[in-house]
This record gives sequence, C-alpha cells and structure tokens, in this order.
Amino acid sequence: MGAYSETEKRTHEREKAGPALEVISGRRSYRGKYLPVPVPRDDLRIILQAGLDAPSGCNKQTASLIAVDSPELLAKLRAVIDPPVAETAPAAICVLTQRINAYRDRCFAVQDYSAAIENMLLAAEALGYSSCWYEGHITDEDRIGDKMAKILGVPEGYELVCLLPVGIAAEKPGPRKKKGFAERAWFNEFGKEE
Ligand SMILES: Cc1cc2nc3c(=O)[nH]c(=O)nc-3n(C[C@H](O)[C@H](O)[C@H](O)COP(=O)(O)O)c2cc1C
Repeated sequence: MGAYSETEKRTHEREKAGPALEVISGRRSYRGKYLPVPVPRDDLRIILQAGLDAPSGCNKQTASLIAVDSPELLAKLRAVIDPPVAETAPAAICVLTQRINAYRDRCFAVQDYSAAIENMLLAAEALGYSSCWYEGHITDEDRIGDKMAKILGVPEGYELVCLLPVGIAAEKPGPRKKKGFAERAWFNEFGKEE
C-alpha cells in the first residue's frame, strides 16, 4: 500500500467535514414551542464549553455565560421577558459581555460574544437541540437584559446581551430564508459570476 496522495487526503478530509458542515447549514433560528424534556447538565456543559472555545480579540475572553436550568429561575426570567419568547424552553443560556478594550481604544466585545454565540448555536444543533439568538429583544429600550441580569446576580461591569433558549423543538422549523450564493459571495472580484 502506497502513501495517500494529496487528492486522496483532501477527499478524506472533506468526507470528515461533512457532518460539521451539515450542522452549520442545518442550523436555523427556532421560535416555536419546545418539548417538556429537560436538557442534561452534560449537554449544557458541552454547549457552554463550545462558547468558551470561541476566538476573541487579543484573547481577552470578554464573554461569560450563565446556563439556567432551574425551573424557578426560568419562571422568574420569563416574568420579565415581555413580550414573551422561548416560554417553553427547558433551559436557556444567558450571554454576558465585559466591554473592555482589547488594545488601545479597540473594543472587540461584540465580536467576542458573537463568536461565542455562534459556536453555542452550532453545538446545540449538533446535539439535536434548537435555539434562537435573542439579542434585539432583550437589549432594546425596555432593557429586559438588565432585569434578567439582576435576577441572576450579575455584578457590575457585565452586561447581559443575549438569551439562547435550549431545548428539543416540538414543531418543524420554518423554511430557510437566505439569499442565493451568487448574491453575496464571489471569487476574485466583487459581484463576479464564475
Ligand atoms: C445580532 C442578532 C440579534 C438577533 N436578535 C433576535 C431577536 O431579538 N429576536 C429574534 O427572534 N431573532 C433574533 N435574531 C435571529 C435572527 O432573526 C436570525 O438569525 C435571522 O432571521 C436569520 O435566520 P436563521 O438564524 O434561521 O438563519 C438575532 C440574530 C442576530 C445575529
């Protein structure tokens, strides 16, 4: 048996990448009802770890995470989320940010927590859970995120910027609504068709 050629190796790598790429393209925001099935701590830990594994500007790691699986706490959070979202989710992850500079006056906190959120959405998808990136809803003028932070004992210097419900979807997700590849991605030149 000879050594693998570069082409064979690439084919093998591409095959290995298949499941990961399926998770990426299969993820979508889920806003329907969740099954009343608890999310095991081990699964929540895997999702949290995926968030912590995300890159961050100058490795400042400005995103922190609180997974909530206590029914009492979830009920308290629900009471301040108005209009309600993710009411039936058996668990949720709250994303916190510290808006500190990476260097000079450059703050990458938004990028840091966004990378963490996407990693967690993908980890949740890979484990068979659904979720949705609720940021606009809780950071609007009514500052729902601040009320949630108070309930969770979040200290000063941290801002609660995103809620990610975690649970098993009880309904089918809606259709994908994405622009076509050629509308947003090109080779070598802006807008150039192959
Ligand atoms: C920064 C950001 C904020 C978002 N905030 C909300 C939100 O407040 N409420 C909501 O229902 N979806 C929210 N979303 C989810 C988007 O609506 C969703 O990603 C988009 O419609 C594309 O759908 P997809 O996630 O299924 O690809 C947010 C997404 C991002 C990236």
